[in-house]
Amino acid sequence: MAFDQLQGVVARLESNIASGPIVPTVGPQEIRDYLGSRYDFSKPVALDEVTDDVERMMRTWQVQVTHPRYFGLFNPSVTLASVIADTLVAMYNPQLAAWRTSPAANEIERHTLAWLTAKFGLPAATSASFTTGGAEANLSAVIVALTRAFPEYGEAGLRSLAASPTIYLTHEAHYSFNKIAHMTGIGRRALRTVATDRDLRMDLGDLARRVAEDRRDGLAPVMVVGTAGTTAAGAIDPLPDLARFCRSEELWFHVDAAWGGAAILSPRLRAHLAGIDAADSVTCDAHKWFSVPMGAGMFFCRHPDAVGEAFRAQTSYMPGKTAGPVVDPYTTSVQWSRRFIGLKLFCALAHHGESGYVEMIEHQARMGDLLRESVQRAGWRVVNRTPLPLVCFTRDGLVATEFLAALYERQIAWMSEVRLGDQAPVLRACVTSFRTQESDIEWVVREMSRLAEPELKVTA
Ligand SMILES: Cc1ncc(COP(=O)(O)O)c(C=O)c1O
Repeated sequence: MAFDQLQGVVARLESNIASGPIVPTVGPQEIRDYLGSRYDFSKPVALDEVTDDVERMMRTWQVQVTHPRYFGLFNPSVTLASVIADTLVAMYNPQLAAWRTSPAANEIERHTLAWLTAKFGLPAATSASFTTGGAEANLSAVIVALTRAFPEYGEAGLRSLAASPTIYLTHEAHYSFNKIAHMTGIGRRALRTVATDRDLRMDLGDLARRVAEDRRDGLAPVMVVGTAGTTAAGAIDPLPDLARFCRSEELWFHVDAAWGGAAILSPRLRAHLAGIDAADSVTCDAHKWFSVPMGAGMFFCRHPDAVGEAFRAQTSYMPGKTAGPVVDPYTTSVQWSRRFIGLKLFCALAHHGESGYVEMIEHQARMGDLLRESVQRAGWRVVNRTPLPLVCFTRDGLVATEFLAALYERQIAWMSEVRLGDQAPVLRACVTSFRTQESDIEWVVREMSRLAEPELKVTA
């Protein structure tokens, strides 16, 4: 398969994906033996042979996240425009570290981020950059918040601080914050777990109590993380309340909208993100609900000065600081060499238009509603509450791990199991593909019920 045959592969994937398998049946040894037997790199292999073989491996040996019945962990189907964009990026390989080396790419990213900045209701002067994903965006938020709260943090380090910084989040917040606490040196214990209500949203009373208690104990509260679309259950923390609380307590308000942020485009859903406009910083991933390939996250921060201070850098081997109303991204973000991450979102937005995106997002939200209603009608118990297309459900006697193994074996669907609070594991299904149709949902729910019922008779 040479480059000019790539078009055929794309077209085939589009027409065949729905009828093919979703879950692979392969173990590591089979793949290792295969690779070992074919690729010792001792002599060259024709490019069409290599690409043909690699394409077959990807078609056969992976969970097909772009399948309409993949109800997984926010990995989307991807738009053709974004695939073409990523190919162009690979070909031209622009270096976005400095503005001067890639003016077009830098301005395309800036233009795209400015559009989204306005959608979130953030000020025009907001600093924004593309990241590899949500984890890097969350890391950026913590670094900038610490830099702003403690001017000595950057030069003298944490050991120079009079009090230990603390961050407030719920057990439903993304686990990347645990790694970030470790990496930034504030330590994992600096994360203070705030209680949630029945819908797994942050409990404001408990937040206030914990902050007051920590201040009394000589700690230095810095940041509150509100999640807009938690990973496990799609819960949206009470953003307006958190914003007010943070303002009154002089705390940094970070909104992790890695998945849910795309809902800002939908007239039907955007009210659920009210309060995001008051955030000090926002994480939003293009490689989740904006349906572009990995890795494409975004970090927005209303304090450009703090961003500039946190990531400042100056060396003789980089081009001199670009003058004028532009920034060199290596001085305003975690990364140094930078891929042109933003082109895939730019091309997809340009091609589909805002209305196309609204349609895509609202279609998935409708499929989520249908899934929720259908499982309930079929006797399952829905255990989460969210306006987003993510349904956690169970039924008496269900052993989630075993049930999922049977679901995968029959290629019915891919979904995951999750533990909400201290409850037994339940099934978690998220509509992540714009390809998912009503018929997929109806068929999956019918097949799941058929699979579950014999077990129920046994336990009854
Ligand atoms: C709410 C939330 N934040 C952050 C992340 C991390 O994002 P990434 O995997 O893009 O680094 C995720 C990933 O699922 C997430 O759901």
